[in-house]
Amino acid sequence: MLFRQLFDKTSSTYTYLLASRRGGEALLIDPVFEQTQRYLKLLEELDLKLVKVVDTHVHADHVSAMGKLRDATRCVTVMGEESPADVVSLRVRDNDKLTIEGVSLTALHTPGHTIESYSFLMGDRVFTGDTLLIRGTGRTDFQNGDPYDQYHSIFDRLLKLPDNTLVYPGHDYKGDTVSTIEEEKAWNPRLQVRSADEYAEIMNNLNLANPAMMDVAVPENLHPGLRSSAQHRVPVREVADILAGWPLKGCRFIDIRETSERRRYGAIPGSIHAPYGHFDQYFKSSEALAARENSDCFLLYCAVGERSTLAVEIASELGLTNVSHIPGGFTAWMNAGGPVEEIS
Ligand SMILES: [Fe+2]
Repeated sequence: MLFRQLFDKTSSTYTYLLASRRGGEALLIDPVFEQTQRYLKLLEELDLKLVKVVDTHVHADHVSAMGKLRDATRCVTVMGEESPADVVSLRVRDNDKLTIEGVSLTALHTPGHTIESYSFLMGDRVFTGDTLLIRGTGRTDFQNGDPYDQYHSIFDRLLKLPDNTLVYPGHDYKGDTVSTIEEEKAWNPRLQVRSADEYAEIMNNLNLANPAMMDVAVPENLHPGLRSSAQHRVPVREVADILAGWPLKGCRFIDIRETSERRRYGAIPGSIHAPYGHFDQYFKSSEALAARENSDCFLLYCAVGERSTLAVEIASELGLTNVSHIPGGFTAWMNAGGPVEEIS
């Protein structure tokens, strides 16, 4: 197991790098924009392929590196379903598994600091974002924060984890790096309360100034999606156009979402499943090669059109022609009332 806790001095943010082995897939939690080159260098040094990058919530004190890392590595951006960010490649819900090769995290929806705050549990440790800090808790006075929600997230979820669970927070301002659930129960001054009302009383009277970066960081972090269509100009096939000619002859739909997304929402009828990250394998199969000879077109789609844009780029680099994607992905498909096949 590879585990690194990286620190950004300016914002006192901790970023976590997880991977199961050298040469394998990696995931980053809460990366900071200004540190992007450092992450890329470390990934290279450890011979890791960044495949997912997660923000625990929309940060107000630093700009996230999610978008920049996605542009540099074509990794999948991940946030909670409740995130107000415009485009996130993959959204998780409470109790969803977030996986890469050899690593599995359980998403815990822990609102309070913000409505979309998530913690991620991995075996003996939990990454708590700004929900639970070492001897502190994240403020609840902006971005739809709510001290009552946070009380329940902490007392009913996080503090119910085994006492020896390691707590890795999103920030620390004093130089502490890790704690445990047991330690926080005993020594976190904000948790020495008897009720949600008492907790809210503390949180509503902190009278903190807004973070220095807030006016820059929040608007920036709300728009992490692929921005410049000029930069990512790939062939598209709009949903309306597809539905006008439905059922489409001579086109193969390739669903590059994860199995869990297919099961939750269904798929375009007749789609071939070739998950992003390994979708190029499909094009090496005899079935795909045969289809290509018949000059079929390939239509890639994901949840919102971000992974599929990157996949079309990869496909064209592999020399594949007749590959396009569906802008807006399966979300646009559902919104337009396109036919859906259930996936069991
Ligand atoms: Fe925060």
